[in-house]
Amino acid sequence: MPIVKPASAIQYRQTIVDMVRAERARVVVEVGVYSGILSMMLAEIEHVKSLTIIDTWAEWPGKFDQAHMDALALDVIAWAATAKLKGGSAVKVIRQESIPAAATFDDDSINFWETDGDHAYEAVKAETAAGLPKVKPGGLMAGDNYEAPTVKRAVDESFESNNVVSLEANGRVWWIRKPVW
Ligand SMILES: C[S@@+](CC[C@H](N)C(=O)[O-])C[C@H]1O[C@@H](n2cnc3c(N)ncnc32)[C@H](O)[C@@H]1O
Repeated sequence: MPIVKPASAIQYRQTIVDMVRAERARVVVEVGVYSGILSMMLAEIEHVKSLTIIDTWAEWPGKFDQAHMDALALDVIAWAATAKLKGGSAVKVIRQESIPAAATFDDDSINFWETDGDHAYEAVKAETAAGLPKVKPGGLMAGDNYEAPTVKRAVDESFESNNVVSLEANGRVWWIRKPVW
């Protein structure tokens, strides 16, 4: 994996795309979609056969009101309704919090779980706990903003207690490979 330090959202998205490509991941989940830019990039990857994108599109107090988030959600849902993955299947949108959404996946079924949703300490811990069982042994879980203290602490604690030895980070993106037990 190239060690680059993404300095911008553009570089962060490209890092994720490069990782999904390097993994030749087929089943991909993205949490924290916002306007769908990364979703559209992921949908273009030829070996991605299943793409599920998860976002609440709820109001961000002090940042974006509900009308703004609803407008983004409608745009993304409209794009997903017509987007076709190279394997022919549709992009699935789940408008829900990531933790209940995780429960809809089979265990050991996802090659790549990417997250850029709620960055609060408790939220990151809860999402990694809910998401990791859904990732295939040997698959990756990755996320944005490891530089944020809440994210770093939650990720470090989540994975040191899960026997995941390969926590890596490049200054912004963190990732772990789920062990093959
Ligand atoms: C920083 S934006 C994501 C940006 C996106 N990754 C990109 O490349 O443009 C964070 C998004 O996470 C969503 N979000 C926040 N908490 C969430 C949760 N618990 N479950 C799902 N989505 C959540 C927000 O609605 C928001 O759209």
